[in-house]
Amino acid sequence: MGPYRRVPLVLPASAHVIDWVRLAPAGALPLNESVTVEIDGDRIALFHTEHGYHALAGSCPHMGGPLSEGSVGDGAVTCPLHGWRYDLSTGQRLDRRGQPVPTYPVEVRQGWLCLGLPAQDRS
Ligand code: FES
Repeated sequence: MGPYRRVPLVLPASAHVIDWVRLAPAGALPLNESVTVEIDGDRIALFHTEHGYHALAGSCPHMGGPLSEGSVGDGAVTCPLHGWRYDLSTGQRLDRRGQPVPTYPVEVRQGWLCLGLPAQDRS
């Protein structure tokens, strides 16, 4: 018997399992640009800033403003319709207390820009 034993992998309920979705070749989204991607009917705003890539919900919870078309600065995006501001890293609302927007991990993996989404139900 080798030094390793095969044990069943049991993830705790709190574990966050994600699926990585290839979006485009790395470099397809230039610095200081943003775009909306649609995956399974969900709109996600993707930003490339000097601090890296960020992804958050594509539609503002106020009235659905397209966040990828908002102005970006100081690590935040401002909704183009009525000016609500969201932190690009956390999705927290910055202009006042309010509903945050979901954020998603973004990584360059093997030359591809990849978006992390909650894993599909595997049961
Ligand atoms: S739709 Fe975004 S602030 Fe109103």
